[in-house]
Amino acid sequence: MRILVYDSLADWTREAADQVQAVLKSKERPVLMLPTGSTPIAVYEELVRRYRAGEISFSHAVSMNLDEYVGLAHDDPESYHYFMQHYLFDHVDMRPDRIFLPETQVEPAQACRDYDAIYDQYGPADIVLLGLGHNGHIGFNEPGTPFANRTCVVTLSQSTLEANKANFGARDDMPTHALAVGPAMIMESRRALLMVRGAGKASILKKVLTHPITEEIPGTLLQRHPDLVVLADREAAAELELA
Ligand code: GLP
Repeated sequence: MRILVYDSLADWTREAADQVQAVLKSKERPVLMLPTGSTPIAVYEELVRRYRAGEISFSHAVSMNLDEYVGLAHDDPESYHYFMQHYLFDHVDMRPDRIFLPETQVEPAQACRDYDAIYDQYGPADIVLLGLGHNGHIGFNEPGTPFANRTCVVTLSQSTLEANKANFGARDDMPTHALAVGPAMIMESRRALLMVRGAGKASILKKVLTHPITEEIPGTLLQRHPDLVVLADREAAAELELA
């Protein structure tokens, strides 16, 4: 495990984008596994900037997102389909037929089987970018999700519903379930980049990195990843004992 700590958002963002850029330049068909949430937005903005500056291309890449809400249409502004188009895919040269997210327009069990099949064709990922939930979830793998899971339907926990409900504003139709790439698939990625920012994540980051590995804190599984890079800002790293 490597822990990288940056004081400025600009440096933190540059490091994350460098990691993606290195993967894009290293292979004929790089496979990215991508997250949503507020944490990666700056990274996507930097990747778009580099694309526009002619520094990188996504034309040869495959992208599989980590998760999606059950029941939201692709054009719903709270869906992760929409999020990814808005922050990244609308602005870069990734081939539309190489962009994958769990499908919300079919029955969830079928969507899981379909996503597993896409993964079997393109996976494992060369790099998975991960945010971190306040309860230690990675992707949408909530506490209790079996580590052996492949794509699965998860019931969102109370803490996740609370954390994400601001996005839904006055709407009363926030989904209670999501489709998620399971922990087993995250762990097969050649590199895992855990991206964490802010004081609010300091205690869960410490737990994820030091607590005995348990399905009750899904992120602890990453301790076993052979190439885990933790990218934190100073606030998120506050409780870590760094050498
Ligand atoms: C959502 C996403 C996760 C993400 C988490 C953290 O639950 N499904 O993939 O890691 O939010 O979000 P944020 O980065 O906004 O703290």
